[in-house]
Amino acid sequence: MIGQAVNRVDGPLKATGRAAYAYEHWEAGQPLYGFIVGATIGKGRITRIDTEDAEGAPGVQLVMTYLNAPAQGPRDESIPFEYWRAQPMLTGPDIHFYGEPVALVVAETFEQARDAADLVEVEYRAGRGRFDFGEFEDDTYIPKTVNAGLPTDTAVGDFDAGFAGAEVKVDQQYTTPYEFSMPIEPNASMVAPHGDDDLVVYVSCQITDAARDSVAGTLMMDPERVHIVTPFVGGGFGSKLGIHSETILAAMAARALGRPVKVTLTRQQVFQLVGMRPTSSQRVRLGAGHDGRLAAIAHDVTMHTNPDVEYAEQTAATVRSLYAAPHRLTSHRLTALDLPRGTDVRAPGEAPGMLSVESAMDELADALGMDPVELRIRNEPTVDPERNVPYSDRHLVECLREGARRFGWENRPATPASVREGRWLIGYGMSAAIRGHFQGPTTVRVRLEPDGTAVIQTDMTDIGTGTYTILTQVGAEGLGLPLERVRIDLGRSDHPSSWGSGGSWGATNSSTAVHRACAALRTKLLDAALGDTRSPLHGQDPSAAVFSDGDVAIGGASEALREIVARHHPDGVEAEGQTRFMGDDPNYSDYSINTYGAHFAEVGVDADTAETRLRRMLSVFSVGRVFNPKTARSQLIGGMIWGVGAALEEEAVVDPRSGAFVNRDFAGYLVPVHGDIPADIDAVVLEGYDDKANPLGAKGIGEVGICGSGAAVANAVFNATGVRVRDFPITIEKLL
Ligand code: MOS
Repeated sequence: MIGQAVNRVDGPLKATGRAAYAYEHWEAGQPLYGFIVGATIGKGRITRIDTEDAEGAPGVQLVMTYLNAPAQGPRDESIPFEYWRAQPMLTGPDIHFYGEPVALVVAETFEQARDAADLVEVEYRAGRGRFDFGEFEDDTYIPKTVNAGLPTDTAVGDFDAGFAGAEVKVDQQYTTPYEFSMPIEPNASMVAPHGDDDLVVYVSCQITDAARDSVAGTLMMDPERVHIVTPFVGGGFGSKLGIHSETILAAMAARALGRPVKVTLTRQQVFQLVGMRPTSSQRVRLGAGHDGRLAAIAHDVTMHTNPDVEYAEQTAATVRSLYAAPHRLTSHRLTALDLPRGTDVRAPGEAPGMLSVESAMDELADALGMDPVELRIRNEPTVDPERNVPYSDRHLVECLREGARRFGWENRPATPASVREGRWLIGYGMSAAIRGHFQGPTTVRVRLEPDGTAVIQTDMTDIGTGTYTILTQVGAEGLGLPLERVRIDLGRSDHPSSWGSGGSWGATNSSTAVHRACAALRTKLLDAALGDTRSPLHGQDPSAAVFSDGDVAIGGASEALREIVARHHPDGVEAEGQTRFMGDDPNYSDYSINTYGAHFAEVGVDADTAETRLRRMLSVFSVGRVFNPKTARSQLIGGMIWGVGAALEEEAVVDPRSGAFVNRDFAGYLVPVHGDIPADIDAVVLEGYDDKANPLGAKGIGEVGICGSGAAVANAVFNATGVRVRDFPITIEKLL
């Protein structure tokens, strides 16, 4: 079952509209609708707020502002991860960023709420905000930590001496813009009071456990009284790792009114209220010998942060494990701006970091007159060069070679701007990819019912990636059941808890826990049958047991699982399986566990208008064992396409006067659409099995696709035109 291209088991529910998303849980009763009023300044203070007209408008039940909002728990920095912390809203008159909620208007219909929101009168005294990264980029400080608990700075050898002595050098500055996750389903929540003091929270989120703690901490409730329900999520990419104002405001209003309240963000509000990938300025220095061997690597990054909620993407962290070099430096610095907090956006840090580093490697190859694939192969390390531990299962060179062969890399134009087809200048580019693999605590319960069907329960989410499908496969294999006799029950905080979907860890954590729960359940079933004189398996050797097709067989004897359950566990039988935090798993300290890839892209650039078109793209990955090649390919190609967008299109622009994102909709914030992506795009995965990662040998795939893929496109643009753009995205005016 594992490794088969099984169709999505939840596909029919989604295609027929029966999969309920956060805003669609009508079973909770007729809800009220809340609409968020956002600040129209980016920094300052509310001097007057008048809700009288709004309160008198048709259908309005409540207008909540800082003047009547309930007391809330504080953000508690002793809780290790932001997403589990309280997120208090409407706490006072101060404005910290443009669009910050200043009121929630609750009415009988959405239209009434939105209409009345316009009647809330707010006057401000605007302060002078820091909105422009370029203006304040030199005013930096060292973050407390880098995302995922990584060190802010590292140093190995003597970089200055190594770089000074290098025969060929690259020393360049790259900049990357604000980017957004922007899943199809905007952040949304419906909160329904239940019983005396409970809240049922239907919310679009990636980590159910975090949502529960965050709601409970904010509303100062017992977490057991908060019940998160999130069976279907329309995309996340980081924007739903935590919950946001929609959930907290809906919960406070539901409690105040004793009725279900739902709040969704408009698309424009998603741009202002959820957080974005920080903008960055990155200096990359590479020093090599004429033979291409790197002597010195440095990656120094400055990013924006919100002053109240510090966030530093791990932008310079990727290079720590990528290439060999005796002399190395990395650093992360922050500059505080009065903008929404930076947050995780798919491959946080790794995506913008690889865009710069892999562009710099292309610049080095050009300076050396060396093939960029060969340059990377020459710098393949034997151990992780900064952690000084072996790699668990590194196949970057195989990805590079296989990708080059399949793509026809040998046809690359040898000199930039040398090949033209009609209007089009043609170029090839490539990049390496690496991304760390993580493991977090996850518990899964597997239950075998008296009718012989299995139910798998965990608070794990499926954010569109295929969790339902792969857990069905792993459970079916683990118990020897046909796929249709395994049912997956996800996204409820009342189930055993997990680290949810994020960081490319969701599939492997939850699958490993299912695998272990199935093993424990098999043992229970075998113990029962072998010790029972009524069973045909009585007294047989359990090590020879084979579970298949709903039966367990030992030698010539066999019995249906259903029979064993009926006799010994008439109410069903269950077992749990777990994964643990990687910090407690020696494999994760003894080995450098990563996924790898190599991207190859061909572009055409219009010689007159500089319009750039991707013509084809191929990437080869090594990610350990794959659960389902169909869902895996979708993940990988999705990441690759996002990288194309990062190279050529995506950029949120801040108004330096107000701190508002000026292009806060899909008309102004460009992402690749079908017309931007050629049919000739493919992701190939090498056969693999990483025995250090987990007993299934699988690693995460959600994020490695975007790592480096933008650089392959950028490098192809250089090969086509001879113009190197270091300020991403590479839009037309920068090429002219
Ligand atoms: Mo991902 S940025 O951890 O959802």
